[in-house]
Amino acid sequence: MIRSRIVGTGSYLPPRIVTNDELAKRIDTSDAWIQERTGIKQRHIAEESQTSSDLALEACRRALDAAGLKAADIDLIIVATSTPDFVFPSTACLLQAKLGVKGCPAFDVQAVCSGFVYGLGIADNFIRSGTHKRALVVGAEVFSRILDWNDRGTCVLFGDGAGAVVLAAGEQPGIHATVLHADGSQAGILSVPGNVCGGRIVGSPFLQMQGNQVFKFAVKVLDEVARETAVAAGIGLDQVDWLIPHQANVRILEATVKKLGMARERLVVTVDRHGNTSAASVPLALDEFVRAGKIKPGHKVMMQGVGGGFTWGASLVTM
Ligand code: UT7
Repeated sequence: MIRSRIVGTGSYLPPRIVTNDELAKRIDTSDAWIQERTGIKQRHIAEESQTSSDLALEACRRALDAAGLKAADIDLIIVATSTPDFVFPSTACLLQAKLGVKGCPAFDVQAVCSGFVYGLGIADNFIRSGTHKRALVVGAEVFSRILDWNDRGTCVLFGDGAGAVVLAAGEQPGIHATVLHADGSQAGILSVPGNVCGGRIVGSPFLQMQGNQVFKFAVKVLDEVARETAVAAGIGLDQVDWLIPHQANVRILEATVKKLGMARERLVVTVDRHGNTSAASVPLALDEFVRAGKIKPGHKVMMQGVGGGFTWGASLVTM
């Protein structure tokens, strides 16, 4: 049976760091409030000239290097993003051109902060079916572009960045199971309710959020989907070495690990330094812990997404 395995990880953070104190100079907030309510200390913000495909390109180059592969070896490109370079063509097509290759399918996945886990599930199915052998799955975001920088309830939470993995066909898993869900009836609690029509933006181009409702929903479904994925994989939660939930708020992460009865030491946290980078947050965190030598070959990792839609999902993998 063909299975898919992560054979390389990579990530990229734009160099410019914006601290909480810097935000507090412009809006009515404080480093103390942001840290206490979210755990966030800083976030990286892209230069005006940098797009999601630029960030994705850097992350992919690093993932390909780690895998010992070239872009020409890739036969499927999936980019998870809610901040695409353009309405179309897709960021994945632009990334493909920047990688200097052509021919293989390339498309975007729009599942907001669950996008990377959705992409992983899709690529795993392509590989298991035998039609494709090596996929780049990328989460890339410039959320700084869709924030109202005067809205203290949202702008302090997010950052920019990209993370990528190379998935390759093999005989051993790899990805044991991916479980995906959505509930469109919750669309209104986290959205950017605008579109381009007749040469102008209709609706709002800025992120809007009912923070408390998102918080409660996230903790509930992250717990449920971790259990569901462990059952689907036939692996007990006690065998999971690392939990990488979508990096939204350290209080959400800690509540999740506690509800699951897992040790705090097994929780991967990067939100303190990255902020919430939406679809990029999970692969960014994965790459950071792989490169730090904490996540090692053979470790079992539960990756989880949750975000606008509402969407949520998890993937349990052996590295
Ligand atoms: O990818 C998923 C995306 N989003 C998330 O995961 C976010 C989920 N939600 C959260 O993380 C939290 O709900 C927030 C961090 C957004 C808010 O934390 P909270 O503990 O739920 O605070 P709150 O919304 O209940 O607001 C408490 C107070 C309010 O003031 P009043 O009404 O009590 O006077 C807010 O106006 O804190 C105020 N507040 C702030 N104060 C200082 C809201 N934002 C700020 C701020 N600085 N940045």
